Amino acid sequence: MADRKKVTIRTLFTKAKQKEPLSWLTCYDYPTASFQEEAGVDMILVGDSLGMTMLGYDSTLPVTMDDMIRHTQAVRRGAPTAFLIGDMPYMSYQPSVESAIRNAGRFMAEASCDAIKLEGGSEIVSRVAGIRAAGIPVVGHLGLTPQSVAALGGFRVQGRGAGQAKQIIDDAKAIEEAGAFAILLEMVPDRVCKIITERAEDCLILSLGSGPHAHGQLLIYHDMFGLYPNFKPRMAKVFGDAGKVILEGLQEYHNEVKDKTFPQPENWFTMKDEEYDELMELLE
Ligand code: KIV
Repeated sequence: MADRKKVTIRTLFTKAKQKEPLSWLTCYDYPTASFQEEAGVDMILVGDSLGMTMLGYDSTLPVTMDDMIRHTQAVRRGAPTAFLIGDMPYMSYQPSVESAIRNAGRFMAEASCDAIKLEGGSEIVSRVAGIRAAGIPVVGHLGLTPQSVAALGGFRVQGRGAGQAKQIIDDAKAIEEAGAFAILLEMVPDRVCKIITERAEDCLILSLGSGPHAHGQLLIYHDMFGLYPNFKPRMAKVFGDAGKVILEGLQEYHNEVKDKTFPQPENWFTMKDEEYDELMELLE
């Protein structure tokens, strides 16, 4: 995508208006970002899921703003034109509107983001409105919100019952009215996602495991390629088993070192005889 123009909010709304679904992926590093840019992916999320997929924590809660900024900067270097969204980590926006604005501002100033994402419904409308008022585009996140996984009772579908579905629909409207230009629905039933998408007036709805009716789809990159060995969510389609390829390559390398079939002459560097002879003289 060497000649692609920068993807902006306007580009995203134009595509949605033309009924072109938006493609969105998580990404945490420079080489993967370069591949995603090359593939023409519309939007990239540097998710705080990096705490699990990249740093090996068993939840997203220990991730800090500094972790997020470092990875987001690397992704921006690899994907200069994709629409880049920084994910606000745990306790970077919950304590106060001021903390929310300051930390959202870091994503824009230090990592050249196009927008930030934060989790939650009506309880965080003041944060959404504050960040928006500071001129920073906001993406909401409803349904399964990993930072509240303990309160939600684990990684499970949200909104299967009518009461909870109504709450998610109300939350989506509240977040939109507070100024979010997009909302991610994670693990919400497809019918609920359809209702929210139809009712959205000036807001893009994105689905992660919430069905085909949204304006676009998000997947976690590590789930797509078998790169996270601890857990594979049902909703994630595996597009290629890179994890298997990497593991087989590592085992082969290990065995070749042990049985001395690696390295071969093409894998090392040599020295001319006369230089070697001179070296020997020098060493005598
Ligand atoms: O951190 C992340 O990658 C996310 C996704 C689970 C949507 O927020």
